[in-house]
Parts: sequence; C-alpha cells; structure tokens
Amino acid sequence: MAKVKTKWVCQNCGYETPKYIGKCPDCGSWGTLMEETEVRSSVTSAQSVVLDNGPVSLINEIEITESIKLPTGFEELDRVLGGGLVQGSLVLLAGDPGIGKSTLILQTAGNICTSGKKLLYVCAEESGSQVKLRAQRLNVNSDKLYVYSQTNLEAVINQIDEIKPEILVIDSIQSVYTSEITSSSGSVSQIRECTNILMNIAKNKNITVIVIGHVTKDGNIAGPKVLEHMVDTVIYFEGDKYKSQRLLRSIKNRFGSTNEIGVFNMAENGLEEVTNPSELFMKERTDISSPGSVIIASSEGTRALLVEVQALVGATSYPSPRRVSTGLEFNRLLQIIAVLEKRIGLNLSKHDVYVNVTGGIEIDEPAADLGIALAIATCYRNVVVDPNCVIIGEVSLSGDIRNVSNLEKRIYEAQKLGFKKVIIPKLNKKLSDNYNIEIIQVSRLIDAITACVSKQKA
Ligand code: TYD
Ligand code: MG
Repeated sequence: MAKVKTKWVCQNCGYETPKYIGKCPDCGSWGTLMEETEVRSSVTSAQSVVLDNGPVSLINEIEITESIKLPTGFEELDRVLGGGLVQGSLVLLAGDPGIGKSTLILQTAGNICTSGKKLLYVCAEESGSQVKLRAQRLNVNSDKLYVYSQTNLEAVINQIDEIKPEILVIDSIQSVYTSEITSSSGSVSQIRECTNILMNIAKNKNITVIVIGHVTKDGNIAGPKVLEHMVDTVIYFEGDKYKSQRLLRSIKNRFGSTNEIGVFNMAENGLEEVTNPSELFMKERTDISSPGSVIIASSEGTRALLVEVQALVGATSYPSPRRVSTGLEFNRLLQIIAVLEKRIGLNLSKHDVYVNVTGGIEIDEPAADLGIALAIATCYRNVVVDPNCVIIGEVSLSGDIRNVSNLEKRIYEAQKLGFKKVIIPKLNKKLSDNYNIEIIQVSRLIDAITACVSKQKA
C-alpha cells in the first residue's frame, strides 16, 4: 500500500524535519525549508536495487571484473574521469548555469556516437530543435545520437527500453521529475528520487548515465550536496564566464584519482581541448617586469602546470592590515606572512597583502609556498624576480625549504616551456635526469630571495 508523508526539507542541504522551522539546524540557512509531500510505493526504487543484487559472497571468492572504460574523444575529460567513462557508472557533471555543460556533453556525445555507441540525450531544458541548432554549430552529427525533449523520468525509462542506448544523458537533473513523488521538479526530494532511479538504471541495465546539475551561487550543486554521495563520480566544470578558459575538476571518483584537472577553451564552435595549459597560462602573462610576479610549478594529478602568482604589498590605510588571497587557502597565506616576518624580518604589520593565483587555478599544495613567499618579499622590496625563473618548494615554519612531491616532473615542465632557471629545495641525492636548465638548490628562504632576483635588476 502506498504511504503518504509530509515533511519539511531544506532546499540547500536536504535536512528533513516533520515541522516547519525558520533556520535549518544542519546548514544554518534561513527560510530554505519547503513542505514536500511524498507518495511512495511500498518498495522504493532504492530497495529494489538491493533486491536485485546477487548473493552474499566471501571476499576471497569474488572474481574481479575489469571495468570497461569508454573514451570520450576528449583526452582532458578522460583524464579527469580516470581513463574514460566506466560502463554502468553514474557521473554527475556540475557547474554554473551557462558555463558550457550542455556544450561539453553534446560534443562528447558526438564523439562517443562516432565510435559506434548508441546514446540517448534527454534535454529537459531545451527543445529538440534548440539542441539540433547547437549540434550544427558544434558540428555534431550521428545516426546513433537520439535526442528526447522530455521532463518525465517514466517516459524516459520507456524510451530506454525502446531504444536500448549504451549511454544516457540527463540535461539537467533539476528539470526532470518522477511521478512517484508529488513535489515539484528541482526540489530536494525530486532530485534525490530521480538520481536514485537513474542509479538503478545504470547498475541494473548496465547503462552509463551522465547527469548534468546546476550549482547555486554559493557553489553547491543546486539543492543537494545530498547528490554527491549517491553517484560514482562528481566533476565540476568551472571558469570565469567572461573568459574563454574552462577547468574540469573531479571532486569524487570511484574509478580514478581526484587530483586531475582538464583544461578547455570555449571558442566560436564549441569547446577545444588545451593539451598544454602551462603554455596558455604563460601567454596570459603580460607584464613580466612587475615586482611581485612569480612563476610556480603546481602538480595536478599526473602532470605539472606552470602558473603565475602575483602579490601586491602596500602601506595600509586600515586599522588592521588586509590579507586577501585568490586561488589559495587563506590560512596558508597567513602562515607564509608570519614566516616572512619572523625569519626574514619583513615588517608587514603595516602593509596590506594581496595574493592572486592567475588562470583560475586553486593551489592547495605546499609546493607553492616558496613562490608565494618570494612574490610577497620581492613586491615588498620592489625588486623584480627573474622572469625566466620557476620557483618550487615548501616553506617550513623555521624558514627552511622542504622537498616536494613530483619534483622532476615540475622541473621538466619548466624546461619544456623554455624557462632558463629553476629554484628547488636542496636535495640529499643527485637528480636522476640530465636537465637542460640551470638548477639552483636552496635550503633557506633567505637564499631563495637572493637567487631569484635577476642580476641586472638587483
Ligand atoms: P551551455 O552549454 O548552454 O551552458 P550550460 O549548459 O552549462 O548552462 O553554454 C552556454 C554558453 O556557451 C553560451 O553563453 C554561449 C557559449 N558558447 C560558445 O561560446 N560557443 C559555442 O559553440 C557554444 C555552443 C556555446
Ligand atoms: Mg545547459
């Protein structure tokens, strides 16, 4: 027998309560609770997954089945996915509205269909002809690509049985609904239930499902963070809407690493892969002779990326000086400033410090410390860091320079892009490769400052 239930659900975090309250006790947001009526059949779709599963086995009796990874035609996307789309998995692609999610997926769909796979693209936000227009612009054409403008998930399931696609795309999860529950599409209950059903389709029918989700202003996948734990892979498509550069970042992946990033460029005719992002970031560098500009080598998954860090240090007009960081963790900046004050003797207590990582990259590894420290120190002293120099190293609280992971890959990237000099931590062993770049090893922060300043400007 069907059960009828009413509850109040926070549209921000998915918190549920039987009574209305103004402030969500879970995420602290005000006025986000909405009343939702839920009508469920006695066996929910989540339970049916369990019912369909095989017998309980001993771990040493289970045979490993190698997961099949389907290339998407974009190396940048494959890398972020951990080698390709895993058959029977559910991938959530999230991003701001208008960032290019539909474009990326339509191009990917075109690539996949060219390789002979059947794909059903459910456009719940656009009409078939809108998708066709976009496909023409993107030069996507295939007799394996089915487009279905539909918002009802049950109708989609009927078509799946009819067409039998190997890949299903839902664009977007906020616009589809299931008749199983009565709340409006886009509500937490609907999104959660629809994802449950789609997960069921992926696992039981062995169809790869790609779900597109919009994120809210504060960066959550609209409504539910609750979605993230349900799906196999979560990737974010990010970038400044007013610039053409786009970053693909995986934040959860049951089949690969989450360190990888993919870089794309939004052009007239769709997205183009950027296979050498360092080159792109370096091209954006305009004023190489301004104090406070430093190139660092950041390690992102299997590759190294060269990015510019800029610092601005100036006398403050505030009662307490400002510290602003873009693209790096705020506490990391405070720690580096503290080391510069104590170990180098910079007096930054009357100075504002702004640090900016260019290219929309988020740096969250300590290997960038030395670069950031040198950007601040050289800006403070108004000297220019040698524009041909790349800086790598972690700074300890004592002002010593510590070794970093993937050092050789970073040096190699600097050499590849034509830099002449690289400053790295002092090593106890010899470097295994013969590099065609001047390598300066430093053990203390003060030595690095002397080494990075170009001779003619110092
Ligand atoms: P879209 O994929 O519709 O974004 P989303 O699905 O994430 O909401 O992308 C929309 C933007 O992309 C739009 O502002 C125009 C731009 N765009 C291009 O610059 N070139 C193109 O070839 C296409 C199709 C879109
Ligand atoms: Mg879209």
